[in-house]
Amino acid sequence: MAVDRFKKQKERAQKLAQDGDAAGALAVYQAIVADDPQELACLTRVAELSRQLGHKAEAVAAYARVAERLAEDGFLFKAAALVRQILELDPGHTQTQARLASMYGAAPPTSGPHRIPPAATTKASRPKRRPEAEGTQSTRLADLVTDPIRPSAPPGPATPALPRTPLFSELPEAALRDALSGLSARTVAPEQAIIAEGEVGQSFFVLASGRVRVTKQTPAGPLVLATLSEGAFFGEMALLQHGPRTASVIAETPCEVLELGRALLEDLTARHPTVAKVLQRFYQQRLLGTATATHPFFQPFTPGERRQLADRFQARAFAEGEVVIAEGKKGDGLYVLLSGALVVSVGPERRVVATLGPGEIVGEMSLLDDRPTSAEVRAGAASWVLRLGRSGFSAVVSQRPEVLGVLQRVAEERRDGRPSAPPTTDDVLV
Ligand code: CMP
Repeated sequence: MAVDRFKKQKERAQKLAQDGDAAGALAVYQAIVADDPQELACLTRVAELSRQLGHKAEAVAAYARVAERLAEDGFLFKAAALVRQILELDPGHTQTQARLASMYGAAPPTSGPHRIPPAATTKASRPKRRPEAEGTQSTRLADLVTDPIRPSAPPGPATPALPRTPLFSELPEAALRDALSGLSARTVAPEQAIIAEGEVGQSFFVLASGRVRVTKQTPAGPLVLATLSEGAFFGEMALLQHGPRTASVIAETPCEVLELGRALLEDLTARHPTVAKVLQRFYQQRLLGTATATHPFFQPFTPGERRQLADRFQARAFAEGEVVIAEGKKGDGLYVLLSGALVVSVGPERRVVATLGPGEIVGEMSLLDDRPTSAEVRAGAASWVLRLGRSGFSAVVSQRPEVLGVLQRVAEERRDGRPSAPPTTDDVLV
């Protein structure tokens, strides 16, 4: 085992600090670092003690060195947390963010392969509006909710050896610099909630270290939707939907989280279409994950089968007022509402019989009875909907005939005028 040649000095410095002699401790740590600049923990102590003693310039210089070293070793988010400390001491400081951004910022787009697995719906989604050239048009956060994702080749990182992260690796250098300057960092103890389902959310998080679980309340108790680890982001859904938090996010281990406010995220998406695309891909993937984890229709399937099943659905965005299903026509498939609202109405006077929220299914009656559609379904708000065509539906039924029972129950409840049992929650996603 390697002998720590600074062991005695470190112990002395620790003791001095404990006894309240910050200046004495600082001098010892400075001597260690002068001897061996690789002593990162000691350099961190130099930064902290300098700060404590009010030596701002020294503290900034030491934090900046630690941040760069961490970034070089692949710990972008740990480095990012230090940028916040630096900015608190010197709000005009830009060098460290610029340096990290130049190391991690994405290179200009190439036609290379996907680095992040595309959302389950990517293949099925169709471009609907605004074909836009990368980098030529801005994307508003609100637009992301209903614009189906388009397959794209995300750019690779400027320095391919550095680890990739789901969002930040997609950021061009300039965007990454802005993001690093605007975030705040905090530590969270195990079992502490970072996000509480149902609350109003104004920020977005990146997990710098640790592990969190995402849970959603259901009548049967909390359901774990996902476990996320270092580099993952969360909290985008409430911002995109301008609605409450769709799930709780709870620390499983001690966590360091980086927090970005809505304004910064809006600015990033407006100025950097790549950011918008990544957010959108995750957002849609997660909506789909939640729908398949919570709606009874998907329950007979294993998680792996649900992912395959989700692949058979086609994603489509509907503008407010657009017809999803016309009345009196041959049913063309089963629809799952992922976000937005659907208004069901009948007869020439368009009498509204139901308004449905995310996670609910429509189109089941005509499929089950092989009769013309019994109502019109319109988007009551900008909505994102999945459709499983007739042949896909038949294939699913032959694989798991029990899904027919689930749909029959939904259809019966609707015929009886009872509200169809929503997936598993009474709250809706928007
Ligand atoms: P938001 O609704 O703002 O707050 C809770 C967050 O949990 C949500 O944003 C997503 O980031 C995350 N989340 C919700 N559903 C899922 C899911 N099915 N899989 C992974 N993460 C999710």
